Amino acid sequence: EKVILAYSGGLDTTALIPWLKETFDYEVICCCVNCGQGAELDGLDKRAAMSGASKLYIEDIVDEFCDEYIVPCVQAGAVYEHKYLLGTSMARPAIAKRLVEIARKEGATAICHGATGKGNDQIRFELGIKALAPDLKIIAPWRMTDVWTMQSREDELEFVKQHGIDLPFDAKHSYSRDRNLWHISHEGLELEDPANEPNYKDLLVLGVSPEDAPDQPEYVTMTFEAGVPKTLNGKAMKVSEIITELNALGGKHGIGIIDIVENRVVGMKSRGVYETPGGTILMEAHDQLEELILDRETMETKKKLGSQFAQVVYEGKWFTPLREAIQAFVESTQKYVTGEVKFKLYKGNIIKAGTTSPYSLYNESLASFTTGDMYDHHDADGFITLFGLPLKVRALMMQEVKNN
Ligand code: ARG
Ligand code: SIN
Repeated sequence: EKVILAYSGGLDTTALIPWLKETFDYEVICCCVNCGQGAELDGLDKRAAMSGASKLYIEDIVDEFCDEYIVPCVQAGAVYEHKYLLGTSMARPAIAKRLVEIARKEGATAICHGATGKGNDQIRFELGIKALAPDLKIIAPWRMTDVWTMQSREDELEFVKQHGIDLPFDAKHSYSRDRNLWHISHEGLELEDPANEPNYKDLLVLGVSPEDAPDQPEYVTMTFEAGVPKTLNGKAMKVSEIITELNALGGKHGIGIIDIVENRVVGMKSRGVYETPGGTILMEAHDQLEELILDRETMETKKKLGSQFAQVVYEGKWFTPLREAIQAFVESTQKYVTGEVKFKLYKGNIIKAGTTSPYSLYNESLASFTTGDMYDHHDADGFITLFGLPLKVRALMMQEVKNN
């Protein structure tokens, strides 16, 4: 029987190849789903073959990840616990979907992943697989404490060495990281104690701290059509290209570094540092445009649903009717989110430098202090009388009570 292994090329998932063969006598087919993790993919084929995998798929889903996962999250303004832009959370269902497709193609009966039993990722992978392929068996070795006995990187290195696999890793504990086009996460080491300041010099991968950013601001112009980013500095580009370029710009100017203690689905708090340079700019730019276009009540409702959307995504419930329904609402609000935003990047800040849209609801003659004909100041008299009526009724009652 065949198993599809969600393969990253790291020590954990490489050790899983011989382990799956030995423990269950599976034929192991590795699948590395590329969501934009970059250089991490080099040399993967050799490593998988050397470790005994019968096949390695490297699946590039970067554009699908952008168009079907990132863009809806940007449009929804999905931010978990006010800070986390969900980089890992939104990639997991996309990966699960591709794993299922490969499993079907190969006629595999199981999918194996290397996420630990303490985290969110196990939940996201498995809810994704269950929703798309309820018949497939899921193997989560880190939870199988009776057959998975390796407790440390030393154990794993020893295990692969015994199997004649030579890996360029050492036993030194390092950050637990997850990277894709949208972000990189860092957990572990000194971050595990929230009393510690992050060691940014060693930690940062996508950019620099604001204090190391250039002293000169840099202007950026972007356009959106119906809530989808279309051009950057005058050049039409695919969303993936826009994010790539924004990552470089944001990284250079120290944008989008957050340090958070978040609440995991499994109940514990965990501390992480996330770099989302391009994503932070994209979300902010989209916001800047929406301010001009959405009416107040739509905006308010969208904010509430956006925060629920973030929770749904964080919890791995991508393939659910609720996610689809919120996304449909959000999409309908995006019809007129078209226009141009200009801002400058400066030492970790995104500073507005002008917004225009053919669908702007901003009316200069209404807002300015000069009198126009659409707004008669006298109308405000009657409006405030009725608007303040409940307050006045209550205040009169209180007066009465006090006097008796
Ligand atoms: N805590 C973040 C989340 O739950 C990041 C998880 C990173 N995952 C990883 N395998 N390193 O989405
Ligand atoms: C893991 O436990 O595999 C990574 C952290 C997480 O999933 O939250």
